[in-house]
Amino acid sequence: MGTEIRTLGDDDVAGWLKALNTGFHRAVELDPEEVALRRATLELDRTRGAFDGGRCVATFRSMPRELTVPGGAAISADAVTNVAVTPTHRRRGLASRLMAADLGAAKERGDAVAILIAAEYPIYGRFGFGPATWVTDWEIDIPRAGLDRRYAGPDPAQGAIELVDGAEVRAFGPALHERVRRATPGAISRSKTWWDLNTGAVVHPSNGWTAPFFAAYRDTATGEVDGLVAYRVNDPHWPNKLPHSDVTVVSLTAATPAAEAALWRHVLSLDWVRKLTTDHRPPDDVLPLLLGDPRAASVETYADFMWLRVLDVPVALSARAYAPLAADLVLDVRDTAGLAGGTFRLETAPDTAPRCTPAPGAAPDLTLDVADLGRLYLGDESALRLATLGLLAEHRAGAAATADVLFRTARRPWCPEVF
Ligand SMILES: CC(C)(COP(=O)(O)OP(=O)(O)OC[C@H]1O[C@@H](n2cnc3c(N)ncnc32)[C@H](O)[C@@H]1OP(=O)(O)O)[C@@H](O)C(=O)NCCC(=O)NCCS
Repeated sequence: MGTEIRTLGDDDVAGWLKALNTGFHRAVELDPEEVALRRATLELDRTRGAFDGGRCVATFRSMPRELTVPGGAAISADAVTNVAVTPTHRRRGLASRLMAADLGAAKERGDAVAILIAAEYPIYGRFGFGPATWVTDWEIDIPRAGLDRRYAGPDPAQGAIELVDGAEVRAFGPALHERVRRATPGAISRSKTWWDLNTGAVVHPSNGWTAPFFAAYRDTATGEVDGLVAYRVNDPHWPNKLPHSDVTVVSLTAATPAAEAALWRHVLSLDWVRKLTTDHRPPDDVLPLLLGDPRAASVETYADFMWLRVLDVPVALSARAYAPLAADLVLDVRDTAGLAGGTFRLETAPDTAPRCTPAPGAAPDLTLDVADLGRLYLGDESALRLATLGLLAEHRAGAAATADVLFRTARRPWCPEVF
């Protein structure tokens, strides 16, 4: 009998979790309590497995998320995660079959796009995904940064930093995140589970939990929390009685420039700390420019992060904003999976909502693969660069340059979190 692909029932969960850990090379046995905790986070009707003789040998699931696009609208996204195939069953097409089942269901549900974080670059292009956002991990050499050691916090007339605990974060964090993600193209909505797991309310024993410090920025005039930073300090040794601590910024979320600057200053001015490292920040983060010497910030990692696959071209392209330019572009989108391809007309004009409509039979200005539309969609790729690479064909002179201006954005899109 062949390997069966299907969604899970409750009895499948323990075996599915074991296959997930195996595919990610984690040889851990989960106890029944942890299985129950993890079961509570799964939507079984969109959690799939491949079963060989009853044994789960591949995993795949997706979650409903809203994705903010340039201009601030939110579209429905199928957020794919937990893609793992047991080493004895790899390269037999199981991930491909699971992907086809999930994307087919997402298309039927009406999701405009699918998104994921790729473990390795070569995996997902074949499924129509393109790298849509990039990230930078920074390392700051604090003694070089040129910061004033007399700094005693933000001007109280403007705002204040407060250390808060996990329960307080769970109270104000979701509303703060909603404000920030709606203003950040590339950012996604978060589930309650995210807050529980990232503030210690729920701990999966096999992952463990070390509480970070949480510092909030409260605006004096409004009384509102406008920003939050989570950080951990590592204090390994004091050679010659000199402190050598490192601070790792787990996340920094800010709704205003004042909150962003004050929270960075807070973590950059902690006593004893000589080095600050960040998680995946936007590549055009203001962080280096907050330092007296921006060269104290070095790039530790610069890499693709969130990959995006368009499922509905008219919905996706009508939802985002473009450069204020009157343009009429006919796009021939190729999609070998048969999900989103076709010919579409994109019409834009200053002060008018953009419109993208099917245009069967219209002469195309540009031809591109759906994966390359995924790269362009959030504004972080250049149509001219894709044309240079031979990934976008221009049939009307100037069409690629017009697409370049239309799609690019002033600030780069950013997905702040792993999902
Ligand atoms: C990556 C992974 C999910 C692929 O699963 P799989 O069942 O082997 O994939 P498929 O057999 O459907 O492969 C489809 C195609 O992708 C290619 N491919 C798959 N994984 C690849 C990789 N890591 N690098 C390059 N090519 C890859 C296959 O060679 C195959 O190519 P073909 O169509 O030209 O024959 C699996 O190897 C795995 O679990 N890896 C470890 C965990 C991981 O990285 N998960 C992804 C998390 S985002």
